[in-house]
Amino acid sequence: MSDTKKTATLSIGDKTLELPIHTPTAGPDVIDIRRLYADGGVFTYDPGFTSTAACESTITFIDGDKGELLHRGYPIDQLAGKSHFLEVCYLLLYGELPSAAQLEDFESRVTNHTMLHEQMQYFFRGFRRDAHPMATMVGVVGAMSAFYHDSTDIADPWQREVASIRLIAKMPTIAAWAYKYSIGQPFVYPRNDLDYASNFLRMCFAVPAEDYEVNPILSRAMDRIFTLHADHEQNASTSTVRLASSSGANPFACIAAGIACLWGPAHGGANQACLEMLREIGTVDRIPEFIERAKDKNDPFRLMGFGHRVYKNFDPRAKVMKQSADEVLELLGVENNPTLQVAKELEAAALADPYFAEKKLFPNVDFYSGIILEAMGFPTEMFTPIFALSRTVGWISQWKEQISDPGLKIGRPRQLYTGETLRDYVNVEDR
Ligand code: SDX
Repeated sequence: MSDTKKTATLSIGDKTLELPIHTPTAGPDVIDIRRLYADGGVFTYDPGFTSTAACESTITFIDGDKGELLHRGYPIDQLAGKSHFLEVCYLLLYGELPSAAQLEDFESRVTNHTMLHEQMQYFFRGFRRDAHPMATMVGVVGAMSAFYHDSTDIADPWQREVASIRLIAKMPTIAAWAYKYSIGQPFVYPRNDLDYASNFLRMCFAVPAEDYEVNPILSRAMDRIFTLHADHEQNASTSTVRLASSSGANPFACIAAGIACLWGPAHGGANQACLEMLREIGTVDRIPEFIERAKDKNDPFRLMGFGHRVYKNFDPRAKVMKQSADEVLELLGVENNPTLQVAKELEAAALADPYFAEKKLFPNVDFYSGIILEAMGFPTEMFTPIFALSRTVGWISQWKEQISDPGLKIGRPRQLYTGETLRDYVNVEDR
């Protein structure tokens, strides 16, 4: 825990409390209210946790006003430009960039865990073909605890390590198989001679009838998308994983809970919702109509891919994603993609509109990712599974950090109760 030389004075009726203030290495000071109810007899009230630090962490730091994102101190634009996903996974999991030997060993361990237990394919076959791949992923990842019993004891550091590697390694296979199953094509097994991103693309797009060559520019773009989604502080799905793990649930159950939370259109489901919105807008001349709808308080419509709970400036990931979108679409010869044109015009129009400027609504990570993924051949239903695949390392890193804390308690928020006070039961004949 950081130092607590400063205190905050809180007067409650005739009580005056001195609450310790923690000074972090970056970000705002934190008032420690752990004794508030015991000493002051009151709760705090913060639905949505807009002003609440739920944990101490050393993994990821975000400055929403600057539009800054650091993983173990390294800025996301440097990692996206100079590193690659498995090296970022090592950094998130272990706290430092690996040596060449450490990286080779880590990549070898991940590569050799990419296959699924053969029985699991029958689990996939229990779903309807038209099941959303996220439904399949929630089910299959939760079911991993039924296939990998030897890595469910969270008290055993070795089993925690094995579960971490298994989840990072197997998520591309699970996501690819969910896709293949949904289009009625045979499962494609991972290959140990391919890098992580190339393996995923091949498992998604190869068919037994012919050889499949991975385009190195597409696999680089895929790897960069994985890196940009790897971790993001205490977002909704990561907080879900932390709360689930605080009860001692096994790692596969905790990650399945995170996948379920990520699915929502306000969170990881926004990339699918954003592309569907861009398609609904269709042409540049309809942008003003949708901008007005987004500003209309009586219209539930929101610009998907815009706004963020924390970023009140550009999401730094969106900047890198925009560069990738230009590169990928130029490579594929679809730089005149109408959806991309609408996206670029919509971004310019929204950023020029006082409503979005006043409310500090900028494009977020989901705004451009869908355009790249669609250009690469993925259906919109696969956008959030790819987000879940990428975020697994963030969830696992935060999970490991939490269950390694000797002071871990089960998460148990209280409430502001405004329901009925005590009253006696009335028999039905007397009502
Ligand atoms: C992710 O938390 C993370 O880190 C998440 C994530 C990660 O990596 O894990 O970054 C991934 O989830 C990115 C966000 C993806 N979601 C979307 O793109 C969906 C569209 N965005 C909105 O639903 C919204 O912006 C949220 C959910 C992202 C944030 O919601 P908040 O915190 O409630 O937004 P806010 O309080 O900052 O809103 C301020 C005002 C409000 O209006 P008023 O009540 O003040 O009048 O801006 C309005 C909002 O109604 N507003 C929008 C808007 N987002 C907020 N108006 C139009 N379009 C939008 N997109």
